[in-house]
Amino acid sequence: MNGNLRWLWFNLVYFRRPTWDTRVSPPELFRFLESHPAGSALDLGCGTGTNLITMASYGWQVTGIEYAWRAVQIARGRLKKAGIPGKVWAGDVTVMNQVRERFDLVLDMGCYHGIPLRRRAAYRTNLIRWLAPGGAYLLYAHCLAAGASVGISEAEMDAFSPDLRLRERQDGFENELRRSVWLRFERA
Ligand SMILES: C[S@@+](CC[C@H](N)C(=O)[O-])C[C@H]1O[C@@H](n2cnc3c(N)ncnc32)[C@H](O)[C@@H]1O
Repeated sequence: MNGNLRWLWFNLVYFRRPTWDTRVSPPELFRFLESHPAGSALDLGCGTGTNLITMASYGWQVTGIEYAWRAVQIARGRLKKAGIPGKVWAGDVTVMNQVRERFDLVLDMGCYHGIPLRRRAAYRTNLIRWLAPGGAYLLYAHCLAAGASVGISEAEMDAFSPDLRLRERQDGFENELRRSVWLRFERA
């Protein structure tokens, strides 16, 4: 699927509740929040804001970026209802020049692995711009399988260095089917 079709697909899919929108944050995120002091966090492709709400409940100041309009509306509504003073930007994480702050944590659950290959360098440039020195980048992605367009390859995991150092890697399977990985990097 090319980038425009994918954008359209994400915009449509949020008119129903997509399968990944479980409204429950994963244990890997809780583990991080329980072992790090609160700061500022940016969620790339934040969907309907579940992880923003979880991070805010641990005292983090939260910001999200999301390009599916319906998801942005839902995320903003959920933050407002929960009394969380976070911000959800509507836009593409590979573009978004408006976000000028730096963050102690950048989270990406399921966004990077679907970004068209030709836009991934732009994503990484933005990531480095947004991540404060010493900050953490927490990434959950599907691993690239032969013939697939969605996923992250081993070479791409290496492409985050030398700006980022890999601190933790946890391999797994999503729905016992698709290889997936959690990566925690630290900004050098
Ligand atoms: C698999 S969903 C995961 C959503 C959310 N992180 C969660 O865990 O519920 C991927 C999300 O990334 C968003 N997304 C994909 N590409 C994007 C881009 N280039 N800029 C902004 N958002 C993007 C999609 O609209 C979708 O909400």
